[in-house]
Amino acid sequence: MAGAKFDFSGTWTVITGGASGIGLTCAMAVAKAGGNVVVSASRKPEKTQAALAQIQKANPEVQAKAYPCEVGQEASVSSFFAAIAADKVQVDYVIHSAGISPNTEFFDQTQSEWDQVQNTNATGSFLVTKHAALTMRSNPVKGDFRGKILLVTSTNGINSWDPVSAHYDASKAANNLFVRVAAEKLSEDRICINGLAPGWINTDLNATLPPDVREKESAKIWMKRWAEPEEMAQCALHMLTMPYLMGQVIMADGGYR
Ligand SMILES: NC(=O)c1ccc[n+]([C@@H]2O[C@H](COP(=O)([O-])OP(=O)(O)OC[C@H]3O[C@@H](n4cnc5c(N)ncnc54)[C@H](OP(=O)(O)O)[C@@H]3O)[C@@H](O)[C@H]2O)c1
Repeated sequence: MAGAKFDFSGTWTVITGGASGIGLTCAMAVAKAGGNVVVSASRKPEKTQAALAQIQKANPEVQAKAYPCEVGQEASVSSFFAAIAADKVQVDYVIHSAGISPNTEFFDQTQSEWDQVQNTNATGSFLVTKHAALTMRSNPVKGDFRGKILLVTSTNGINSWDPVSAHYDASKAANNLFVRVAAEKLSEDRICINGLAPGWINTDLNATLPPDVREKESAKIWMKRWAEPEEMAQCALHMLTMPYLMGQVIMADGGYR
């Protein structure tokens, strides 16, 4: 990874959505920085195996594990963190990157699709934060914190929205406020939480974005290009290692209006 040098040696980072896109590049960046990683398994087993191989290739010296986790179901999230604890892994950092973004014409968005997006993106962020924090509560305090959580939110919850992603935009707005609420509560246990709000990133998530929306959105980016997921990984590692950052959502959107 070009740019900053990070040192995650001797730590474990749990990454949801870590088998693809932004989550996978975060996992590889943590590994390159010497950190061990646990990713939530993809629903496609071959994708999980490929991700683990990529992480190990990034740094053969670190450990990389995967466990199943359906982020919108509390029993699954709870089992995920229980399995990690049973493996005697101390969770130092969590990057919650799992999310979905179906792009559907506004009047074609059904209640079922709306509910699925809220369940994965909004409820998932709550459940992962809750169970990550419950796990981190028994960590010793290192510096100011027992552990740090980074939610991958979106500028779609702030200043970039479109009727085709109304459900997604609402779920991400929920994420952005939730960071603030959770930060106040988790500070009681010396657990840090912040949010990284990416703009437009070249990942599979945007596969269904209608061409006219892609064109309209691209024209608004001051840097005149979309970001690569590796650039979000660099932002994520910065945010996890920045001192005195608490309850903030930082937009990484290349400048946008
Ligand atoms: N790409 C962008 O332009 C962009 C912009 C702003 C914010 N974001 C946010 O960045 C995050 C990562 O997105 P990405 O671009 O990296 O997309 P991606 O490549 O599609 O990755 C999404 C990941 O989330 C996982 N996932 C989806 N639903 C899940 C569920 N219910 N339980 C557990 N895991 C689930 C997927 O697992 P499977 O392999 O099983 O499907 C996949 O690994 C998302 O929260 C997204 O909203 C992305």
